[in-house]
Amino acid sequence: MIAKLDELRSRALGELDSIDTSSGLEAWRIRYLGRKSALTEVLRGLATLPLEEKRATGAAANELRTFLEKTLTLKEEAIRESEIARSIEQGQLDVTLPGRPSALGRLHPTTKLLRHICDIFMAMGFEVIEGPDVEWDYYNFEALNIPQDHPARDMWDTLWMDFETEDGRQPMLLRTHTSPMQIRVMESRRPPVRVIVPGKVYRYEATDATHEAMFYQIEGFAVDKNITLADLKGTLFEFAKRLFGEERKARFRCDYFPFVEPGVEMAIDCFLCNGAGCQLCSGSGWIEILGAGMVHPDVLRRVDYDPDVYTGFAFGLGLERMLMLKYGIDDIRLFYSNDLRFLRQF
Ligand code: PHE
Repeated sequence: MIAKLDELRSRALGELDSIDTSSGLEAWRIRYLGRKSALTEVLRGLATLPLEEKRATGAAANELRTFLEKTLTLKEEAIRESEIARSIEQGQLDVTLPGRPSALGRLHPTTKLLRHICDIFMAMGFEVIEGPDVEWDYYNFEALNIPQDHPARDMWDTLWMDFETEDGRQPMLLRTHTSPMQIRVMESRRPPVRVIVPGKVYRYEATDATHEAMFYQIEGFAVDKNITLADLKGTLFEFAKRLFGEERKARFRCDYFPFVEPGVEMAIDCFLCNGAGCQLCSGSGWIEILGAGMVHPDVLRRVDYDPDVYTGFAFGLGLERMLMLKYGIDDIRLFYSNDLRFLRQF
């Protein structure tokens, strides 16, 4: 029986060699693997064999079947390819067949909103400037009235790193907010300045639905003669209306940031319930969207702006928070986990 199977194998292989069309291959398949093939016959006849022989023959026959099936698949592919090659050669390519659509890329929701917000402020006369993600303590904290050991440092859980210089290692950090760019910009130019700074910021966080170690902020500030809190309110109110709709109301309340005085937080009336109170606004009717304030005189002094001549306002808003509000997204981690099912919705 085993000898018969071996003979079958070499016959099948021998015939396969000379086959070069799909129809020829189909006939071969029926001959060697079909219901009436010699191999099927052997498998059917197993029951009548004595136990010892049954085991050996069964194993060999099954092995042969797997082998022939595998060989068939390989041959199928080879024939398909050579048939395509032949038909192209003979000019039988059907140019009227519809093409394969190529997947279209799109902008990330964060990028879209970021550009939209930048457009709004540019239309109001602000200039867009970017800054470094890796910062010195001086710009991220010190120059913003947050000295070493100041308790306000607890507001920003910081990722520290070492930077190698000629005089040894210097501590650096991943900026915890975009506010250091207030200092960098003012250091390098004289007023008036009207600037917005979009960019990534980093926090030493255990991530959860509302915290990420990396997210986006947009900083904005304007310094000139005679700038008052009314300018801050007017500018931000106008921004809120352009972003969230003409009928939006805005509310300012006291808040604390060491580098502004006074400091405020701005909220808009909830666009879902129009201020009546719902789940989105936790029943309050208001949604906080940013922190802001008048640039602290000590900050101005540090960049050599005379606070008796110049005043300014500054604000910083978190981009993902706005997106979560706008689209009802309840987990910030969705933004940067590269799940196409999420991203394709925008
Ligand atoms: N930098 C602050 C933060 O990240 C926000 C802010 C910016 C507040 C500018 C006031 C003025 O929390």
